[in-house]
Amino acid sequence: MPPLTTILFPSLALFLLLLFSSSTSNAHNITRILAKHPEFSTFNHFLTTTHLAAEINRRQTITVLALDNAAMSSLLAKQLSLYSLKNVLSLHVLVDYFGSKKLHQITNGTALTATMFQATGAAPGSSGYVNITDLKGGKVGFGAEDNDGKLDAVYVKSVAEIPYNISVLQISQVLNSAEAEAPTAEPSQLNLTEIMSKQGCKAFADLLKASGADATFNQNIDAGLTVFCPTDPAINGFMTKYKSLTASQKVSLLLYHGIPDYQSMQMLKSNNGIMNTLATDEANKYDFTIQTDGEVVTLETKVITAKITGTLKDEEPLIVYKINKVLLPGELFKPVEAAVAPAESDPAGDQTVDNENGVTGLDGRRLVMVLLSLCIGVLLM
Ligand SMILES: *[C@@H]1O[C@H](CO)[C@@H](O)[C@H](O)[C@H]1NC(C)=O
Ligand SMILES: *[C@@H]1O[C@H](CO)[C@@H](O)[C@H](O)[C@H]1NC(C)=O
Ligand SMILES: *[C@@H]1O[C@H](CO)[C@@H](O)[C@H](O)[C@H]1NC(C)=O
Ligand SMILES: *[C@@H]1O[C@H](CO)[C@@H](O)[C@H](O)[C@H]1NC(C)=O
Ligand SMILES: *[C@@H]1O[C@H](CO)[C@@H](O)[C@H](O)[C@H]1NC(C)=O
Repeated sequence: MPPLTTILFPSLALFLLLLFSSSTSNAHNITRILAKHPEFSTFNHFLTTTHLAAEINRRQTITVLALDNAAMSSLLAKQLSLYSLKNVLSLHVLVDYFGSKKLHQITNGTALTATMFQATGAAPGSSGYVNITDLKGGKVGFGAEDNDGKLDAVYVKSVAEIPYNISVLQISQVLNSAEAEAPTAEPSQLNLTEIMSKQGCKAFADLLKASGADATFNQNIDAGLTVFCPTDPAINGFMTKYKSLTASQKVSLLLYHGIPDYQSMQMLKSNNGIMNTLATDEANKYDFTIQTDGEVVTLETKVITAKITGTLKDEEPLIVYKINKVLLPGELFKPVEAAVAPAESDPAGDQTVDNENGVTGLDGRRLVMVLLSLCIGVLLM
């Protein structure tokens, strides 16, 4: 009996860990937390438009230094571009947990803490740190590290605390930082077709330009865009089929390779499920399903399953992935019937259906059930 438990207890622990980590990926939502406090409505609005809200929700342990509407209007008066504004706001997001209690109990009374500005690599050199210092009379001061030792803001109050996931603390003023406010290249200056052409997706980029679909992709960059570009061999093997489409079908097929939203690899992995695309014009049209199996992320249409094989560019709000097959929408190509075994030969050559994922998924679940019943059995003994 002892040797058996030593094998099964770790399995049970592993199972619980898996259960735990899969069911808690969206533990907090900063937009919802701040929505209860109208005095932070401007700050909340800009967390959303700069895509920082999604970044904050994705992190397990975080502190947001919230600015009320008055503090925000003095920041907005500087008329920074949206991208510099994003850097300034990301300096107000600490990648560690500071509840109001911990604030007053900092070892030696002062600390430098990393922020999201630093953590995302946007900050040059060693900037992107915030100095938190306990001051006389129970006050706590905050200042950007690159601010000549000046602590611009003081702690006002705790807005929300979910230990040790997210803490939202109001501070009195914007943290000034020349580094964060510096002008940055705007994403719309990113040349999508050039990025793809230089990294193995020239054939797809050429189709975008020839069909005029590139304009729709470019218009979506600023608001957030995810592009899946099939590699040159995948496009070359597909050209016969492509040529048989009408002009508007060609555009729909190309738009089917974009999602009007920024989806990092981490977000794709945690948002498994149906995704609308740039081609979607009504509910349940031109969508596909994201599936994750370990480190492999696949896109399943009703016709084929493609695999993400690399990332060409990740500069929020734009992300461009490389995929190994052309995504064939069920609206333009004959869907494969669920019960039918994978076809032995397919006219499109490399466009064969891959049914393996569904099967391994089922086996995995069955394995966990067996493991669980074994563990329960041992516990009952
Ligand atoms: C904090 O996050 C963990 C992991 O994401 C989650 O399991 C837990 O429920 C969260 N705590 C609260 C109070 O929401
Ligand atoms: C967060 O909350 C807002 C407002 O309630 C909602 O629109 C948004 O979809 C939520 N985000 C997530 C990731 O659940
Ligand atoms: C606190 O101060 C002592 C003495 O100056 C130093 O040795 C220690 O590293 C400091 N601790 C932290 C966390 O900075
Ligand atoms: C934080 O700033 C204060 C005031 O300028 C300074 O005395 C302190 O040394 C700084 N703390 C750290 C850890 O750099
Ligand atoms: C992208 O770069 C190509 C040359 O590499 C150029 O022909 C095209 O006009 C550029 N597109 C945009 C939107 O600037």
